[in-house]
Amino acid sequence: MTSVSLQKPSKVSIIGTGRVGSTYAFTLLLRETADEICLIDDNKERALGESMDLNHAMSLVQRTTIWAGSIQDVVDSDLVAICAGSAQQPGETRMDLIHRNAKIVGDIAEKVGQLAPNAILLVVTNPVDVMSYVAMMRSGLAPQRVIGSGTMLDTARLRYVIGEELGISPQHIHASIIGEHGDSEIAAWSGATIAGTSVRNWALSETHLQSMFEEVRDAAYNIINLKGATYYAIAVTMAKITEAILRDLRSVYSVSCYLDGEYGVRGVYLGTPAVVGREGILRVIELPLSQDELEAFKVSARTVKQAIQNLNLRPASFYERLLKKVSGFDVSQELDIDAGRLAAHPLTGCPDDASQPGIPVSGASRNALTPMGTDDEANIQNQVLYHKQPKPITARKPGRKPRRPSQLT
Ligand SMILES: NC(=O)c1ccc[n+]([C@@H]2O[C@H](COP(=O)([O-])OP(=O)(O)OC[C@H]3O[C@@H](n4cnc5c(N)ncnc54)[C@H](O)[C@@H]3O)[C@@H](O)[C@H]2O)c1
Repeated sequence: MTSVSLQKPSKVSIIGTGRVGSTYAFTLLLRETADEICLIDDNKERALGESMDLNHAMSLVQRTTIWAGSIQDVVDSDLVAICAGSAQQPGETRMDLIHRNAKIVGDIAEKVGQLAPNAILLVVTNPVDVMSYVAMMRSGLAPQRVIGSGTMLDTARLRYVIGEELGISPQHIHASIIGEHGDSEIAAWSGATIAGTSVRNWALSETHLQSMFEEVRDAAYNIINLKGATYYAIAVTMAKITEAILRDLRSVYSVSCYLDGEYGVRGVYLGTPAVVGREGILRVIELPLSQDELEAFKVSARTVKQAIQNLNLRPASFYERLLKKVSGFDVSQELDIDAGRLAAHPLTGCPDDASQPGIPVSGASRNALTPMGTDDEANIQNQVLYHKQPKPITARKPGRKPRRPSQLT
């Protein structure tokens, strides 16, 4: 008997088919994730060559339509991945790429917002937290529809390193890297567990934990020194995010999300665990952190905010209006992050973490602004983890509903 899929064919467009983009396409092909993959690159020959090479595997894997297109061809995509732009050279930090890549990512995101307003945008170009913000601003898409790969790769690295150390499968280790995907990232050790037991109970000293964290934080520098670039693990990371979106898996990954009061931070993209599904970020999960980890997270937020401010980013009023109309999201408030004008945050004393007078404070922000007493850590542990109700999910676009069996011929 022939089985008939009721799902509409899924389409992923990949912009930037260099090392990361082409390895991602290869991973999607092997994992049979998408029905159609459109490869787009400034270097048209490169995109065409990659599409030919991938297509030559087609008799050996499940059929996927793979072709090389132009930016106009993002129309109708369910997911658009941006991995275009410069990569780090040996000795460069991710932040060194910011000006070069902000223009590339911003221009691409603007076109994607116009051509594929129903798509989820997955940003991978570095510095990824800043680029996710740029993509959100320039695309006009709602913040929950613009996702950065964030610290998911770093989290995978941490789980691998702990697993190697303890002789346990990384899949059974629950630990997260949060904050910037970069030098200010943080290992959230206080929530790291194996079968519900803290990793601190596994005879790992603080020095040991710190050296594992440093290995993870510096992994990209080491790999770039050895072979010029990283692309395999990030490609798998992207494929997992893609599957969570296309199949509405509601998986929990440490991705770069727009923060609106979580951890006492707002108006910035940073890595944190979140529920990922068909509509993008369904919920941001606020990890219970120790006071030190929370402080480090805020330092990381300030690093990324400062980088955004240095870009002098201001969307054209068209995008501002569009964004407000589509999502009710008021850009002008978010960009107004002049720390000098803000009151001190009751939790940290940092001015740029306080909500501005006159701006309604969300439930999440209210949680984060609760004054802390001597039992700070216990208070943090007792905070409700989920503070955003999931939106009802409409997994498919209007007009693209699956047909009923009786309609199938
Ligand atoms: N977020 C992460 O965890 C992570 C991991 C690895 C790499 N990266 C980042 O991914 C990006 C790509 O890395 P790579 O190693 O594939 O680089 P690469 O140089 O191999 O490929 C970049 C590609 O982008 C294309 N490109 C440039 N401008 C473009 C434009 N305007 N439109 C379409 N295509 C354009 C180039 O032609 C090139 O093919 C870099 O910014 C890198 O730092 C991020």
